[in-house]
Amino acid sequence: MRKYVIAGNWKMNMTPAQTKDLINQMKPLVADATCDVVLCVPYVDIAAAVEAANGSNIKIGAENIHWAQSGAFTGEISGEMLKAAGAQYVIIGHSERRQYFGETDDTVNARLKAAIASGLTPIVCVGETLEQREKNITVETVAMQTKIAFRDISADDAVNTIIAYEPVWAIGTGKTATDEQADEVNGAIRNVIKEIYGIDTAEKIVIQYGGSMNAKNAAGLLAKQHIDGGLIGGASLKAEDFSVIVKAAK
Ligand code: PGA
Repeated sequence: MRKYVIAGNWKMNMTPAQTKDLINQMKPLVADATCDVVLCVPYVDIAAAVEAANGSNIKIGAENIHWAQSGAFTGEISGEMLKAAGAQYVIIGHSERRQYFGETDDTVNARLKAAIASGLTPIVCVGETLEQREKNITVETVAMQTKIAFRDISADDAVNTIIAYEPVWAIGTGKTATDEQADEVNGAIRNVIKEIYGIDTAEKIVIQYGGSMNAKNAAGLLAKQHIDGGLIGGASLKAEDFSVIVKAAK
């Protein structure tokens, strides 16, 4: 049985003080969760988030990681730094990184290797644009993204990696994929993992859905066979909404 993972992605929101406030509001609301609860926050908020979440079931993650261990990479953050700050998870290859910051399937692969080497749990994002969906190449697109992301990753490491299917057209737009659309693509991604690693890994790997998941639509999406959790943007900035999603993951 796969355990649900509900992860917030705060994107470029919240100061350290706001971080503490929001996590303090969330803690009692998600204390009974049967799923894993994660908040991926801006780098400068990680320390405040770890402190505020201490003693609770909320785990903290980052929103990106550099592939090198250290060196002349102005503005970047290494896995060792994230671990030392108390992060346990890290988002890799979010479509906003791909779209606005030139990240590619190859850099996703390099970052995934770095996350694994640092002992962080990666959340690797894949997803098609509206144009790709309209051209009917959704499955091909996510299959290629997945295959390149997992290049040279062992089955043991793959099974501990989370994949988030996030259709680009659904992110921050209020347009959610239907339960069936999301489940179909999540199932296709699971098939790709099966092709690479075999049935065991495919059945164990956690595949989330993300893209305008909210308090209203979460239960329907999470009831689907291949949807093992959510990567939540906007709704993870509201304690009440986020907790409703967490409670739907059971
Ligand atoms: P959204 O963002 O829930 O605001 O659509 C999801 C994401 O980008 O991970």
